[in-house]
Amino acid sequence: MTKDKQHRILLRPTRVELKAEKGTPLRDLLFEQGVEFPCGGQGRCHGCRVKVLEGAASVNRTQQDRLTREELAGGWRLACQCVTEGDLVIELRQWDAAILADDTPFAFQPRPGLGVAVDVGTTTLVTQLLDLTTGRVLAVRTGLNAQARHGADVMSRVRLAGVKGGQRELEELIRSQIGKLIGQLLFAANASSAEIRDVVLVGNTVMHHLFCGINVEPLSHYPFETPKPGLMSFHLQNLGWKLPGEPRIRFLPCLGGFVGSDILGGILATRLGESEEAVGLVDLGTNGEIVIGNRDRMLCASTAAGPAFEGARISMGMLASTGAISEVRIEDGQVRCYVLGHREPRGICGSGLVDAAAAGLELGMIEPSGRFAHGAKQWTLAPPVSLTQNDVRELQLAKGAIAAGMRMLLDRWGEKRPSRLYLAGAFGNYISRSSAQRIGLLDFPPEQVEPAGNTALLGAKLALFSLDGEDGSYAELRNRIEHVPLNADPRFQEVFVEELSFPARNFVYD
Ligand code: FES
Repeated sequence: MTKDKQHRILLRPTRVELKAEKGTPLRDLLFEQGVEFPCGGQGRCHGCRVKVLEGAASVNRTQQDRLTREELAGGWRLACQCVTEGDLVIELRQWDAAILADDTPFAFQPRPGLGVAVDVGTTTLVTQLLDLTTGRVLAVRTGLNAQARHGADVMSRVRLAGVKGGQRELEELIRSQIGKLIGQLLFAANASSAEIRDVVLVGNTVMHHLFCGINVEPLSHYPFETPKPGLMSFHLQNLGWKLPGEPRIRFLPCLGGFVGSDILGGILATRLGESEEAVGLVDLGTNGEIVIGNRDRMLCASTAAGPAFEGARISMGMLASTGAISEVRIEDGQVRCYVLGHREPRGICGSGLVDAAAAGLELGMIEPSGRFAHGAKQWTLAPPVSLTQNDVRELQLAKGAIAAGMRMLLDRWGEKRPSRLYLAGAFGNYISRSSAQRIGLLDFPPEQVEPAGNTALLGAKLALFSLDGEDGSYAELRNRIEHVPLNADPRFQEVFVEELSFPARNFVYD
């Protein structure tokens, strides 16, 4: 890898400064800053538009086709199609007032002061500071959840919480980390003395309970339900945070079992609860969460997918960051790998893993049972990154859990199958929909599947603007949502085992 001169990339409005070598895809740089690429960087949507304020970014054929002449002349580019060519100052459309949910700007009631939206993920925390008058994002800070050192998935956190002092330790870790991230947001936006009016947090049930100080012991055994999944409010003193103003701090309510307020946020962001037609929403995290419904009725469920989609328990697995194989394609009968950050491969992330399995099935390297063909022990994708038999088994467990959960929820739904499925979360942004269908993870044609970005965070941002007329409990909406406890259904295990295999059918790879 050449050690070219580092170029400076300044982001507006957040004032983040990045450094990158010539030729580094903007997509890789911005993804690590929490920017979403709704069509997976295929140049098909406008979700990643940036405006070049200083410097130059070349226009390729895709951009000529997708952007108008006026837009191009005005400096607009598709970040997913650009590479670093020199120093740049760019403005991110995504963080402007038009907070996007399926490409429709949402109307908000301007309010004075600042607001903070927090997505408390099992693996990652994302925080945004918003100007409540303009809706603009002023700063973004992300971090790995400090609890992750105690285990990658929610059940490992629940186990630690069961040990003496464990729940308290996890609570202190998450509260203090989020408090620090909010302090960093204010510093980055030069707003240390501005008034914060509202802080809205969303997360799955375990994250909700650990932050709020609610005992997670009931989530460690059947029926995996807790008596207090509701809205929780705090004062600064409760949390030990030192912030300007006297903000209302609210963790939005959960929906039941392991289905938390991240999914409530997803329902708000995708407007699933207002849809006439049936729509699905899936969050492919360590704790897979699924919703199917329309404006009359909604069903939700969770299924323990494990951490394979986030690269954990995979021999060379890693999160989607620099050096991760994030895409595997077949070109002229050969495997081609795309590495994030334009670097030598260091490992493979979830989207790369799903692609690799799909490619392996197409090339006959992997059998529908999941076994490597011809007794092979491993498959080298791009040295030094290989897949082992155990990696494929881990992927099968994750995909089996999601596919079984979806199948059982669709059976329970009983009405017309949804013709649109939103994929929530960073993984949903990057995963190839064809590969997801090929391995039987999502039994939906790619054209019906729509990456929806970080819908949990979008929902938290929407809540920042609607809390004045709403106490944040979303009681009416929650009344229309039925939680389906899959683990209470004796059929689940049987369906899960059936869904462990990969589909054997021939498939046209795009
Ligand atoms: S056009 Fe770039 S992510 Fe869709």
